[in-house]
Amino acid sequence: MEKSGSTIDVFLSEEQISNRVKELGEQITNEFKGEEVIVLCVLNGAFMFCSDLMKEINLPLKLDFVGLSSYGDDTQSSGQVVITMDTKYDLSDRNVLIVEDIVDSGLTMKFFMNLVRGRNPKSIRLASLLYKPARNKYPVDIDYLGFEIEDKFVIGYGLDYAGRYRELPYVGILNAGN
Ligand code: IMP
Ligand code: MG
Repeated sequence: MEKSGSTIDVFLSEEQISNRVKELGEQITNEFKGEEVIVLCVLNGAFMFCSDLMKEINLPLKLDFVGLSSYGDDTQSSGQVVITMDTKYDLSDRNVLIVEDIVDSGLTMKFFMNLVRGRNPKSIRLASLLYKPARNKYPVDIDYLGFEIEDKFVIGYGLDYAGRYRELPYVGILNAGN
């Protein structure tokens, strides 16, 4: 697949993703047993996964977005996490489901889960589309994981490289062209 000079190899197809998202949705539905859940979608990368996942969850849901930034326009973590947008919900005694695109070093989710934990939720769970074990430095428990992947920089289905490629309906690997 060709897009603006660089080639993209499909790594996880639309069908593979949607099958897995259905399974995760069913698992989440079963585990919360009818209780209300506040879904915190981590912008920007998780927007597509979160949208598809919520459609597969049969529970009373509330949605909010949070902005966390640990990356510049680079493929390496800057080692710092900044909250750029916080939730408006009071999380105390609520079921919280954090939805993330990818756990790489684990720094972003370790930081954010500690922050949420400090707000005394009833429960806190993490759903992540992807996990790269080879790069993990800060262990985090991923309760609902889409796919464990090898140490490759991936794009699409919400994930970006320098702000681009989020709109692709599949997860791909970018081979830099010109
Ligand atoms: P961590 O804090 O190192 O776990 O980094 C997590 C964040 O880095 C994710 O939320 C992504 O935004 C970004 N990231 C890590 N790996 C990739 C990748 O392969 N493609 C696109 N973004 C990535
Ligand atoms: Mg992210």
